[in-house]
Amino acid sequence: MISVAHIARILALLNLTFTSSASPTPSCVCNEESIERDVAIIGGGATGTLAGIHLKDAEKSIIVVEKMNRLGGPVHMYTDPRTGTKFDFGTQIYFNQTVTKDYLKRLNISITNLGIGFPTKSVYANFKTGQGFDNYTEPNVADGLPGYVAQLSKYPYLEEGFNLTYPVPEDLPLPFGDFVDKYNLQSLTHFTFFQAQGMGNQMLQSALYVLKYISMAVVQGVSSSFLTTVSGNTQEIYDSALKILQLDTKQLLIPIQPRSDILQPFDLDSKERDIFDKFSNSAFVTGLINNTGLQDNLTCNGIDPMKRFDLPTLPGMYNIYSTSIPSVLSFKYGVPTDMSTEMVKADVRNSVIKLRESYSDDLGGMWTLLPLLPTRILSW
Ligand SMILES: *[C@@H]1O[C@H](CO)[C@@H](O)[C@H](O)[C@H]1NC(C)=O
Ligand SMILES: *[C@@H]1O[C@H](CO)[C@@H](O)[C@H](O)[C@H]1NC(C)=O
Ligand SMILES: *[C@@H]1O[C@H](CO)[C@@H](O)[C@H](O)[C@H]1NC(C)=O
Ligand SMILES: *[C@@H]1O[C@H](CO)[C@@H](O)[C@H](O)[C@H]1NC(C)=O
Ligand SMILES: *[C@@H]1O[C@H](CO)[C@@H](O)[C@H](O)[C@H]1NC(C)=O
Ligand SMILES: *[C@@H]1O[C@H](CO)[C@@H](O)[C@H](O)[C@H]1NC(C)=O
Repeated sequence: MISVAHIARILALLNLTFTSSASPTPSCVCNEESIERDVAIIGGGATGTLAGIHLKDAEKSIIVVEKMNRLGGPVHMYTDPRTGTKFDFGTQIYFNQTVTKDYLKRLNISITNLGIGFPTKSVYANFKTGQGFDNYTEPNVADGLPGYVAQLSKYPYLEEGFNLTYPVPEDLPLPFGDFVDKYNLQSLTHFTFFQAQGMGNQMLQSALYVLKYISMAVVQGVSSSFLTTVSGNTQEIYDSALKILQLDTKQLLIPIQPRSDILQPFDLDSKERDIFDKFSNSAFVTGLINNTGLQDNLTCNGIDPMKRFDLPTLPGMYNIYSTSIPSVLSFKYGVPTDMSTEMVKADVRNSVIKLRESYSDDLGGMWTLLPLLPTRILSW
């Protein structure tokens, strides 16, 4: 049994309050403020919610501690106030895997293969200068996939976790760019770079992390299809999970990213602090922009033909693309190390202003940039 009285104290330290609706375990001998559960889950994002459902099905008593008044973490449904059109600019796609399908079935969520959406005009630009490259041809992913799969197949254990074999195979710590050169995977670099948003300067990351991120499930998704919800509303997954978990009160999140500064309220000892100090993170920010003056139905991907593999330098824009809402565009922005939301917004704004020189219908008109709901997604 894990007593969560300690968590209540942590929440107090974090200046949050804490409630739970699950029935108390009869064996609990503790004061009124204590809640006793088999498992306490800190954070009701994708992992916390999935764990909660599995544990509940295994008849464990649980508590999910979540800051927001909903589960689902980086799921973000935006509703256009004018038309009521909804657009999900957070998590949108799932892998076509048994574990995912069983889970979504458990939650009564109808799924379908991801379609291509409405047709857009695909262009390329250097977001730092605004220079457009209408005729740029991206390398063909299909050319590199077999070679990549051959490499991935050497490390089947990476699908499950980080349980490496020792000594660690010499290719895994190689910077990914060198790994690419070694195995002639150049035609794959745009795919891995734009797919693994949030990895920061991917070509300098150890090949291990890229192989882990661009797993066989991702390769299969690209080769056949990813899954998405029929409704297009990813939040419904978490609303359904919430019903099962019967958390009828507003719960709280401690954003448990494994970094010692964030975990400080947990009274880390020096050994724990040593471990958590070894983690660092990169991130990407996604958000919506209204009324940019850019052409409708535009998808613009960042490139920089002066750089290695023509990839853009970060921090900077990965891409910007039209949504189902007229005049609202969505963007993704890569952040290799910590950067304030204000700085990201300013750079997004600059990039859009520059881009207008190449891809605007209406250069002379008045326009406003309304950054909406930026969200930060962290990867480790
Ligand atoms: C899923 O549907 C079944 C059958 O219609 C129903 O019994 C069950 O309560 C539903 N579960 C959820 C989480 O909505
Ligand atoms: C998932 O993959 C299988 C084959 O592996 C395919 O038959 C199916 O259509 C895909 N999509 C869904 C929604 O199951
Ligand atoms: C953009 O796509 C939508 C949906 O397919 C279509 O109705 C609209 O006419 C397109 N706009 C332009 C400028 O092509
Ligand atoms: C793209 O190609 C077309 C036709 O070959 C050409 O007219 C146009 O100038 C090119 N655009 C750029 C930006 O190079
Ligand atoms: C890690 O791998 C070793 C041998 O390959 C195995 O004995 C061990 O159980 C694995 N550990 C975990 C946590 O999966
Ligand atoms: C977005 O811009 C359009 C065009 O100016 C405007 O009509 C609409 O109200 C704006 N939407 C939001 C959410 O600001």
